Amino acid sequence: MDTHRSRNDAPDDLTRRRFLGEIGRGAVVGSVAASIIDRGQTASAADAQPGRVKHRILGKTGLKVSEIGFGGHSWAYSKVPVGEKRYRRVTLEEAVEMIAEGLDMGVNYFDSCTPLLECSVPGEALKRLKKRDQAIICVRPSHKMKGVPNDKKEVFDWTEARLKLWQTDHIDLLLLSNEQHVTDKSGYWDMSYSIEACAKLKKEGKIRFTGFGSHFTPEWFYEAFAKFAKDFDVCSMPYNVRHRVAEDVMPKAKQAGLGVVTIKPLARGSLLAKRNLQGKDAGLARDMIAFVLENKHVDVCLCGVHTREQMRENFSASWTTLSPERRTALTQRAAQLPCNEYPWLEQGWRYV
Ligand SMILES: NC(=O)c1ccc[n+]([C@@H]2O[C@H](COP(=O)([O-])OP(=O)(O)OC[C@H]3O[C@@H](n4cnc5c(N)ncnc54)[C@H](OP(=O)(O)O)[C@@H]3O)[C@@H](O)[C@H]2O)c1
Repeated sequence: MDTHRSRNDAPDDLTRRRFLGEIGRGAVVGSVAASIIDRGQTASAADAQPGRVKHRILGKTGLKVSEIGFGGHSWAYSKVPVGEKRYRRVTLEEAVEMIAEGLDMGVNYFDSCTPLLECSVPGEALKRLKKRDQAIICVRPSHKMKGVPNDKKEVFDWTEARLKLWQTDHIDLLLLSNEQHVTDKSGYWDMSYSIEACAKLKKEGKIRFTGFGSHFTPEWFYEAFAKFAKDFDVCSMPYNVRHRVAEDVMPKAKQAGLGVVTIKPLARGSLLAKRNLQGKDAGLARDMIAFVLENKHVDVCLCGVHTREQMRENFSASWTTLSPERRTALTQRAAQLPCNEYPWLEQGWRYV
Protein backbone atom coordinates (compact mmCIF):
# COMPACT_ATOMS: atom_id res chain seq x y z
CA MET A 1 0.00 0.00 0.00
CA ASP A 2 1.23 3.49 -0.81
CA THR A 3 1.00 5.12 2.60
CA HIS A 4 2.47 8.43 1.44
CA ARG A 5 -0.35 8.84 -1.03
CA SER A 6 -3.10 8.15 1.44
CA ARG A 7 -1.67 10.63 3.91
CA ASN A 8 -0.57 13.54 1.84
CA ASP A 9 -1.91 13.84 -1.65
CA ALA A 10 -4.84 16.06 -2.40
CA PRO A 11 -7.33 13.62 -3.98
CA ASP A 12 -9.35 14.86 -6.93
CA ASP A 13 -12.50 15.38 -4.91
CA LEU A 14 -10.81 17.32 -2.12
CA THR A 15 -12.17 20.83 -2.23
CA ARG A 16 -10.18 23.90 -1.33
CA ARG A 17 -12.27 24.47 1.75
CA ARG A 18 -11.70 20.98 3.03
CA PHE A 19 -8.02 21.17 2.17
CA LEU A 20 -7.59 24.41 4.13
CA GLY A 21 -9.49 23.02 7.09
CA GLU A 22 -7.15 20.08 7.14
CA ILE A 23 -3.89 22.03 6.95
CA GLY A 24 -5.27 24.29 9.69
CA ARG A 25 -5.56 21.30 11.99
CA GLY A 26 -2.37 19.68 10.73
CA ALA A 27 -4.46 16.66 9.77
CA VAL A 28 -3.29 16.32 6.18
CA VAL A 29 0.22 15.72 7.30
CA GLY A 30 -0.16 14.96 10.94
CA SER A 31 1.31 11.50 10.74
CA VAL A 32 4.26 12.50 8.63
CA ALA A 33 6.43 13.49 11.59
CA ALA A 34 7.10 9.87 12.43
CA SER A 35 8.32 9.02 8.94
CA ILE A 36 9.85 12.30 7.89
CA ILE A 37 12.52 12.03 5.23
CA ASP A 38 15.85 13.70 5.77
CA ARG A 39 15.61 16.58 3.35
CA GLY A 40 18.45 18.76 4.54
CA GLN A 41 21.57 18.97 6.59
CA THR A 42 19.66 19.93 9.70
CA ALA A 43 16.11 18.76 9.02
CA SER A 44 15.60 15.89 11.42
CA ALA A 45 12.76 13.86 12.87
CA ALA A 46 13.16 15.71 16.16
CA ASP A 47 12.78 18.99 14.32
CA ALA A 48 9.68 17.93 12.35
CA GLN A 49 6.24 18.67 13.75
CA PRO A 50 2.99 19.51 12.00
CA GLY A 51 2.50 23.27 12.30
CA ARG A 52 6.26 23.90 12.65
CA VAL A 53 8.50 24.91 9.76
CA LYS A 54 11.81 23.06 10.01
CA HIS A 55 15.25 24.64 10.00
CA ARG A 56 18.48 24.14 8.09
CA ILE A 57 21.97 25.60 8.34
CA LEU A 58 22.67 28.36 5.81
CA GLY A 59 26.08 27.31 4.46
CA LYS A 60 29.12 28.84 6.07
CA THR A 61 27.06 31.52 7.84
CA GLY A 62 26.13 28.82 10.38
CA LEU A 63 22.75 30.56 10.76
CA LYS A 64 19.83 28.27 11.61
CA VAL A 65 17.21 29.37 9.10
CA SER A 66 13.66 28.23 8.46
CA GLU A 67 13.58 26.13 5.27
CA ILE A 68 10.79 28.41 3.98
CA GLY A 69 11.12 32.18 4.10
CA PHE A 70 8.84 35.16 3.56
CA GLY A 71 9.41 36.52 0.04
CA GLY A 72 9.70 40.30 -0.04
CA HIS A 73 7.23 40.59 -2.92
CA SER A 74 4.54 39.55 -0.44
CA TRP A 75 4.32 43.10 0.88
CA ALA A 76 4.90 45.21 -2.22
CA TYR A 77 2.53 44.02 -4.93
CA SER A 78 -1.23 44.38 -5.20
CA LYS A 79 -2.30 40.75 -5.20
CA VAL A 80 -4.99 40.49 -2.53
CA PRO A 81 -8.28 39.97 -4.41
CA VAL A 82 -10.99 42.56 -3.70
CA GLY A 83 -13.62 41.66 -6.27
CA GLU A 84 -13.79 41.12 -9.98
CA LYS A 85 -10.21 41.46 -11.31
CA ARG A 86 -9.36 44.02 -8.60
CA TYR A 87 -6.50 43.68 -6.16
CA ARG A 88 -4.85 45.57 -3.32
CA ARG A 89 -1.69 45.28 -1.26
CA VAL A 90 -1.46 43.48 2.09
CA THR A 91 -2.17 46.11 4.76
CA LEU A 92 0.27 46.75 7.61
CA GLU A 93 -2.20 45.26 10.10
CA GLU A 94 -2.51 42.11 7.98
CA ALA A 95 1.28 41.93 7.65
CA VAL A 96 1.64 42.12 11.44
CA GLU A 97 -0.78 39.20 11.83
CA MET A 98 0.85 37.14 9.10
CA ILE A 99 4.35 37.73 10.43
CA ALA A 100 3.30 36.94 14.01
CA GLU A 101 1.79 33.66 12.84
CA GLY A 102 4.80 32.87 10.64
CA LEU A 103 7.22 33.47 13.52
CA ASP A 104 5.09 31.21 15.73
CA MET A 105 5.43 28.50 13.09
CA GLY A 106 9.22 28.91 13.18
CA VAL A 107 9.68 31.01 10.03
CA ASN A 108 12.57 33.38 10.68
CA TYR A 109 13.88 34.34 7.21
CA PHE A 110 12.73 37.61 5.59
CA ASP A 111 13.82 38.56 2.10
CA SER A 112 13.56 42.05 0.57
CA CYS A 113 14.24 43.28 -2.94
CA THR A 114 14.07 46.75 -4.53
CA PRO A 115 10.57 48.10 -3.63
CA LEU A 116 10.76 50.08 -0.39
CA LEU A 117 7.62 48.42 1.00
CA GLU A 118 9.46 45.09 1.05
CA CYS A 119 11.53 46.51 3.93
CA SER A 120 9.28 49.07 5.59
CA VAL A 121 6.25 46.79 6.03
CA PRO A 122 7.99 43.82 7.69
CA GLY A 123 10.33 46.24 9.50
CA GLU A 124 7.40 48.02 11.14
CA ALA A 125 5.65 44.70 11.81
CA LEU A 126 8.69 43.28 13.60
CA LYS A 127 8.99 46.47 15.62
CA ARG A 128 5.34 46.31 16.71
CA LEU A 129 5.75 42.65 17.60
CA LYS A 130 9.07 43.39 19.38
CA LYS A 131 10.56 40.41 17.53
CA ARG A 132 13.45 41.80 15.48
CA ASP A 133 15.77 39.48 17.40
CA GLN A 134 13.91 36.42 16.05
CA ALA A 135 14.30 37.48 12.41
CA ILE A 136 17.05 36.92 9.84
CA ILE A 137 16.80 39.86 7.46
CA CYS A 138 18.12 39.80 3.91
CA VAL A 139 18.39 42.86 1.64
CA ARG A 140 19.22 42.66 -2.05
CA PRO A 141 21.00 45.68 -3.52
CA SER A 142 20.23 45.48 -7.20
CA HIS A 143 22.73 46.01 -9.96
CA LYS A 144 25.66 47.24 -7.85
CA MET A 145 28.18 45.01 -9.61
CA LYS A 146 29.11 47.18 -12.54
CA GLY A 147 32.81 47.14 -11.74
CA VAL A 148 33.05 50.92 -11.36
CA PRO A 149 34.24 52.77 -8.22
CA ASN A 150 30.79 54.24 -7.69
CA ASP A 151 29.51 50.71 -6.90
CA LYS A 152 30.94 51.23 -3.42
CA LYS A 153 28.93 54.35 -2.72
CA GLU A 154 25.78 52.75 -4.14
CA VAL A 155 26.13 49.73 -1.84
CA PHE A 156 26.73 52.00 1.18
CA ASP A 157 23.76 54.25 0.36
CA TRP A 158 21.49 51.28 -0.29
CA THR A 159 22.44 49.68 3.01
CA GLU A 160 21.96 52.88 5.04
CA ALA A 161 18.51 53.35 3.52
CA ARG A 162 17.54 49.72 4.20
CA LEU A 163 18.71 49.89 7.83
CA LYS A 164 16.29 52.77 8.32
CA LEU A 165 13.41 51.09 6.51
CA TRP A 166 13.86 47.87 8.47
CA GLN A 167 14.25 49.94 11.67
CA THR A 168 17.29 47.97 12.70
CA ASP A 169 20.97 48.56 13.45
CA HIS A 170 22.19 45.58 11.42
CA ILE A 171 21.23 43.52 8.39
CA ASP A 172 21.89 39.78 8.60
CA LEU A 173 22.52 39.14 4.91
CA LEU A 174 23.33 41.51 2.08
CA LEU A 175 22.82 39.74 -1.23
CA LEU A 176 24.18 41.42 -4.36
CA SER A 177 21.52 40.94 -6.95
CA ASN A 178 20.60 41.95 -10.44
CA GLU A 179 17.45 42.40 -12.43
CA GLN A 180 16.06 40.74 -15.49
CA HIS A 181 16.34 43.73 -17.81
CA VAL A 182 19.94 44.53 -16.89
CA THR A 183 21.22 40.97 -16.80
CA ASP A 184 23.31 41.27 -19.95
CA LYS A 185 25.03 44.41 -18.76
CA SER A 186 25.34 43.86 -15.06
CA GLY A 187 28.95 42.67 -15.17
CA TYR A 188 28.90 40.33 -12.19
CA TRP A 189 32.42 39.39 -13.13
CA ASP A 190 33.63 42.59 -11.65
CA MET A 191 32.13 42.64 -8.19
CA SER A 192 35.42 43.99 -6.87
CA TYR A 193 34.11 47.36 -5.67
CA SER A 194 30.93 45.84 -4.21
CA ILE A 195 33.06 43.27 -2.37
CA GLU A 196 35.16 46.08 -0.91
CA ALA A 197 31.99 47.86 0.22
CA CYS A 198 30.65 44.68 1.82
CA ALA A 199 33.90 44.10 3.71
CA LYS A 200 33.71 47.63 5.17
CA LEU A 201 30.04 47.25 6.11
CA LYS A 202 30.85 43.95 7.84
CA LYS A 203 33.66 45.60 9.76
CA GLU A 204 31.31 48.37 10.89
CA GLY A 205 28.82 45.75 12.12
CA LYS A 206 26.10 46.94 9.73
CA ILE A 207 25.87 43.62 7.89
CA ARG A 208 26.77 40.14 9.07
CA PHE A 209 26.98 38.03 5.90
CA THR A 210 27.03 38.51 2.14
CA GLY A 211 25.81 36.73 -0.96
CA PHE A 212 25.09 37.10 -4.66
CA GLY A 213 22.77 35.82 -7.35
CA SER A 214 19.16 35.82 -8.51
CA HIS A 215 18.89 36.43 -12.23
CA PHE A 216 22.32 35.11 -13.17
CA THR A 217 22.52 32.40 -15.80
CA PRO A 218 23.77 28.99 -14.60
CA GLU A 219 27.06 29.62 -16.44
CA TRP A 220 27.53 32.88 -14.55
CA PHE A 221 27.05 31.03 -11.29
CA TYR A 222 29.78 28.55 -12.19
CA GLU A 223 32.15 31.36 -13.03
CA ALA A 224 31.22 33.31 -9.91
CA PHE A 225 31.80 30.23 -7.70
CA ALA A 226 35.29 29.85 -9.18
CA LYS A 227 36.20 33.52 -8.81
CA PHE A 228 34.31 34.81 -5.80
CA ALA A 229 33.11 31.98 -3.54
CA LYS A 230 35.73 32.87 -0.91
CA ASP A 231 34.32 36.40 -0.65
CA PHE A 232 30.71 35.36 -0.03
CA ASP A 233 28.63 33.21 2.31
CA VAL A 234 25.44 32.59 0.30
CA CYS A 235 24.06 32.47 -3.25
CA SER A 236 20.50 32.67 -4.53
CA MET A 237 18.96 31.10 -7.65
CA PRO A 238 15.59 30.05 -9.11
CA TYR A 239 14.34 26.48 -8.60
CA ASN A 240 10.94 24.88 -9.14
CA VAL A 241 9.28 21.79 -10.64
CA ARG A 242 9.74 23.15 -14.17
CA HIS A 243 13.02 25.08 -13.95
CA ARG A 244 15.41 22.47 -12.59
CA VAL A 245 18.92 23.31 -13.80
CA ALA A 246 19.61 24.44 -10.22
CA GLU A 247 19.84 20.71 -9.42
CA ASP A 248 23.25 20.86 -11.16
CA VAL A 249 24.25 24.28 -9.85
CA MET A 250 23.39 23.88 -6.15
CA PRO A 251 25.87 21.04 -5.41
CA LYS A 252 28.67 23.23 -6.80
CA ALA A 253 27.57 26.04 -4.49
CA LYS A 254 27.67 23.65 -1.57
CA GLN A 255 31.13 22.40 -2.52
CA ALA A 256 32.21 26.02 -2.31
CA GLY A 257 30.67 26.26 1.18
CA LEU A 258 27.91 28.65 0.12
CA GLY A 259 24.42 28.60 1.57
CA VAL A 260 21.64 28.27 -1.03
CA VAL A 261 18.51 30.43 -1.04
CA THR A 262 16.06 29.55 -3.81
CA ILE A 263 13.46 31.84 -5.37
CA LYS A 264 10.43 31.34 -7.59
CA PRO A 265 9.10 27.96 -6.35
CA LEU A 266 5.90 28.69 -8.29
CA ALA A 267 7.56 30.67 -11.11
CA ARG A 268 5.83 33.70 -9.61
CA GLY A 269 2.49 31.92 -9.73
CA SER A 270 2.65 31.03 -13.42
CA LEU A 271 2.98 27.29 -12.65
CA LEU A 272 -0.47 27.50 -11.05
CA ALA A 273 -2.14 29.16 -14.04
CA LYS A 274 -5.21 27.44 -15.45
CA ARG A 275 -5.38 25.04 -12.52
CA ASN A 276 -8.47 24.41 -10.45
CA LEU A 277 -7.03 25.47 -7.09
CA GLN A 278 -10.47 25.56 -5.50
CA GLY A 279 -11.18 21.99 -6.55
CA LYS A 280 -9.12 19.10 -7.80
CA ASP A 281 -5.83 21.01 -7.75
CA ALA A 282 -6.18 22.17 -4.12
CA GLY A 283 -2.78 21.97 -2.43
CA LEU A 284 -0.77 22.34 -5.63
CA ALA A 285 1.28 25.31 -4.34
CA ARG A 286 2.09 23.41 -1.16
CA ASP A 287 3.21 20.37 -3.13
CA MET A 288 5.39 22.43 -5.49
CA ILE A 289 7.16 23.95 -2.49
CA ALA A 290 7.49 20.49 -0.89
CA PHE A 291 9.19 19.40 -4.12
CA VAL A 292 11.78 22.20 -3.75
CA LEU A 293 12.39 21.28 -0.10
CA GLU A 294 13.10 17.66 -1.01
CA ASN A 295 16.41 18.80 -2.43
CA LYS A 296 18.96 18.63 0.36
CA HIS A 297 21.04 21.41 -1.19
CA VAL A 298 18.25 23.96 -0.66
CA ASP A 299 18.67 25.84 2.63
CA VAL A 300 15.79 28.30 2.30
CA CYS A 301 12.98 28.38 -0.25
CA LEU A 302 11.47 31.88 -0.56
CA CYS A 303 7.87 32.19 -1.59
CA GLY A 304 5.55 35.12 -2.12
CA VAL A 305 2.41 35.02 0.06
CA HIS A 306 -0.31 37.63 -0.19
CA THR A 307 -2.95 36.23 2.12
CA ARG A 308 -2.97 34.27 5.34
CA GLU A 309 -4.50 31.40 3.43
CA GLN A 310 -1.58 31.30 0.98
CA MET A 311 0.87 31.59 3.85
CA ARG A 312 -0.62 28.66 5.77
CA GLU A 313 -0.72 26.50 2.68
CA ASN A 314 2.81 27.32 1.57
CA PHE A 315 4.41 26.91 4.98
CA SER A 316 2.68 23.54 5.43
CA ALA A 317 5.01 22.24 2.69
CA SER A 318 7.58 21.87 5.48
CA TRP A 319 5.71 18.91 6.95
CA THR A 320 4.40 17.47 3.68
CA THR A 321 5.94 14.42 2.03
CA LEU A 322 5.27 13.72 -1.65
CA SER A 323 4.60 10.22 -2.88
CA PRO A 324 6.64 9.12 -5.94
CA GLU A 325 3.43 9.23 -8.02
CA ARG A 326 2.61 12.74 -6.93
CA ARG A 327 6.16 13.92 -7.66
CA THR A 328 6.07 12.40 -11.13
CA ALA A 329 2.68 13.96 -11.84
CA LEU A 330 3.90 17.38 -10.73
CA THR A 331 7.05 17.37 -12.82
CA GLN A 332 5.45 15.84 -15.92
CA ARG A 333 2.63 18.36 -15.98
CA ALA A 334 4.97 21.28 -15.26
CA ALA A 335 7.22 20.19 -18.11
CA GLN A 336 4.30 20.34 -20.55
CA LEU A 337 3.00 23.80 -19.69
CA PRO A 338 4.87 26.70 -21.28
CA CYS A 339 5.84 29.53 -18.95
CA ASN A 340 6.30 32.32 -21.47
CA GLU A 341 6.19 35.23 -19.00
CA TYR A 342 9.76 34.59 -17.89
CA PRO A 343 12.11 34.02 -20.84
CA TRP A 344 15.24 34.10 -18.65
CA LEU A 345 13.86 31.19 -16.62
CA GLU A 346 12.71 29.28 -19.68
CA GLN A 347 15.91 29.75 -21.64
CA GLY A 348 18.44 29.39 -18.85
CA TRP A 349 16.97 27.24 -16.11
CA ARG A 350 14.98 24.52 -17.87
CA TYR A 351 16.56 21.35 -19.23
CA VAL A 352 15.87 21.21 -22.95
N1 LIG B 1 15.73 39.96 -8.04
C1 LIG B 1 15.66 39.17 -7.02
O1 LIG B 1 16.56 39.10 -6.26
C2 LIG B 1 14.43 38.32 -6.83
C3 LIG B 1 13.70 38.01 -7.92
C4 LIG B 1 12.57 37.26 -7.76
C5 LIG B 1 12.18 36.84 -6.50
N2 LIG B 1 12.91 37.16 -5.43
C6 LIG B 1 12.48 36.75 -4.08
O2 LIG B 1 11.89 35.48 -4.12
C7 LIG B 1 10.57 35.53 -3.57
C8 LIG B 1 9.70 34.47 -4.23
O3 LIG B 1 9.57 34.69 -5.61
P1 LIG B 1 8.21 35.21 -6.28
O4 LIG B 1 7.38 35.91 -5.26
O5 LIG B 1 8.60 35.96 -7.50
O6 LIG B 1 7.55 33.93 -6.82
P2 LIG B 1 6.79 32.66 -6.25
O7 LIG B 1 6.96 32.50 -4.79
O8 LIG B 1 7.21 31.58 -7.15
O9 LIG B 1 5.28 33.00 -6.59
C9 LIG B 1 4.54 33.86 -5.81
C10 LIG B 1 3.15 34.01 -6.43
O10 LIG B 1 2.48 32.77 -6.48
C11 LIG B 1 1.13 32.92 -6.12
N3 LIG B 1 0.89 32.08 -4.94
C12 LIG B 1 1.69 31.93 -3.87
N4 LIG B 1 1.17 31.05 -3.01
C13 LIG B 1 0.02 30.62 -3.55
C14 LIG B 1 -0.99 29.71 -3.12
N5 LIG B 1 -0.89 29.04 -1.96
N6 LIG B 1 -2.05 29.51 -3.92
C15 LIG B 1 -2.15 30.16 -5.08
N7 LIG B 1 -1.25 31.05 -5.55
C16 LIG B 1 -0.18 31.28 -4.78
C17 LIG B 1 0.89 34.38 -5.81
O11 LIG B 1 0.42 35.01 -6.98
P3 LIG B 1 -1.12 35.41 -7.15
O12 LIG B 1 -1.67 35.66 -5.77
O13 LIG B 1 -1.10 36.60 -8.02
O14 LIG B 1 -1.71 34.23 -7.83
C18 LIG B 1 2.29 34.92 -5.60
O15 LIG B 1 2.44 36.23 -6.06
C19 LIG B 1 10.14 36.98 -3.80
O16 LIG B 1 9.06 37.36 -3.00
C20 LIG B 1 11.42 37.71 -3.52
O17 LIG B 1 11.61 37.89 -2.13
C21 LIG B 1 14.04 37.89 -5.58
